[in-house]
Amino acid sequence: EKGSFRHFMEKEVHEQPESCQRTLSAYLDPVACAVRDDIKAGIDFSQIVRIQIIACGTAFYAGSIARYAFEKLAGLPVDVEVASEFRYRTPAITPGTLAVAVSQSGETADTLAALRWCKEQGMHTAAVVNVHSSTMAREADLMWPTHAGPEIGVASTKAFTAQLSALLSLVVCAARQRSRITAHEEAHLVQVLLGAPGLIAEAMAMDAEITRVTYDLSKARDVIYLGRGDMYPLALEGALKLKEISYIHAEGYAAGELKHGPIALIDENTPVVVIAPDDALFEKTASNVQEVAARGGRVIMITNVPEKVPALSGDAGKSLKVITAPSCDAFIAPLVYSVPIQLLAYHTAVHKGTDVDQPRNLAKSVTVE
Ligand code: M6R
Repeated sequence: EKGSFRHFMEKEVHEQPESCQRTLSAYLDPVACAVRDDIKAGIDFSQIVRIQIIACGTAFYAGSIARYAFEKLAGLPVDVEVASEFRYRTPAITPGTLAVAVSQSGETADTLAALRWCKEQGMHTAAVVNVHSSTMAREADLMWPTHAGPEIGVASTKAFTAQLSALLSLVVCAARQRSRITAHEEAHLVQVLLGAPGLIAEAMAMDAEITRVTYDLSKARDVIYLGRGDMYPLALEGALKLKEISYIHAEGYAAGELKHGPIALIDENTPVVVIAPDDALFEKTASNVQEVAARGGRVIMITNVPEKVPALSGDAGKSLKVITAPSCDAFIAPLVYSVPIQLLAYHTAVHKGTDVDQPRNLAKSVTVE
């Protein structure tokens, strides 16, 4: 039941501190401050040469975010591909590849077909699934559960952050098994991850600032989302969320790509949502904000360092709205910044009056091609 919430989506967004906590607990031992022994016993990442992640929609973006962390912290090459492309293009497989299907339902037709193809090729397979009795859970060699609980809203929210929780925990496992980090560094990363549910809860307080910009956003015909590093796939996820439930056309781009085409779209009618935590790439993203503002674009910037946002003079300054996020370690920023992008889509859709939980033309689980 929805309880005091207007929609299942809103309820599920607010459940994320608990759903992430449950998922993290399945992977991490808070007493030992380490990845749990049963998870370590199930896989040896030091024997794995490459990871191939296959997924659709939001699960694909979770996989795309995980890729940054697997490569950076575990030195493990990762390919991520939408299952509908992977399954039909005869991919060349590197021996020693672990295929990882990511799926809330565990039943998505393309992801399942891709997983089966990988098995036929003799690859070791794993499935990150929320429905633990699903076909993917049964057929993969290894089942890595998420514990989001049943997700009713067609737009995925808590399943996405549960996937991130599981995948980032596995990154710590991989980094340790591949001797990229010490036990001490493992303990630190585990602590950072275990702190995420509290920060996700804090991020819910952004609701008030977000509702101040969503009326304007609901009048837009097109919206652009920008991010760098692992905030790039989060920008894509933000654009998908907005499209799905508000029917507003939205596109996500890597912020560095702005000059290579999308900047031509910027005008006062095309709001730009910029996801910019205070990380190594902040200054670069901030300069993209200036480029957009200089062309009359309206910017909604989500950041934990509003004081570092370049002061824009005159009209350009007026068209910049900053939404302040809680500060966090860069490792868990994708988890924390998921909340504002979900709330942004949610409140925009509510202003438009669309059917948030059952958007037109969409099915919760795409079990036919
Ligand atoms: O059940 P799955 O995770 O395999 O579903 C994949 C996509 O169909 C799903 O994430 C879809 O994109 C959602 N509607 C996103 O909100």
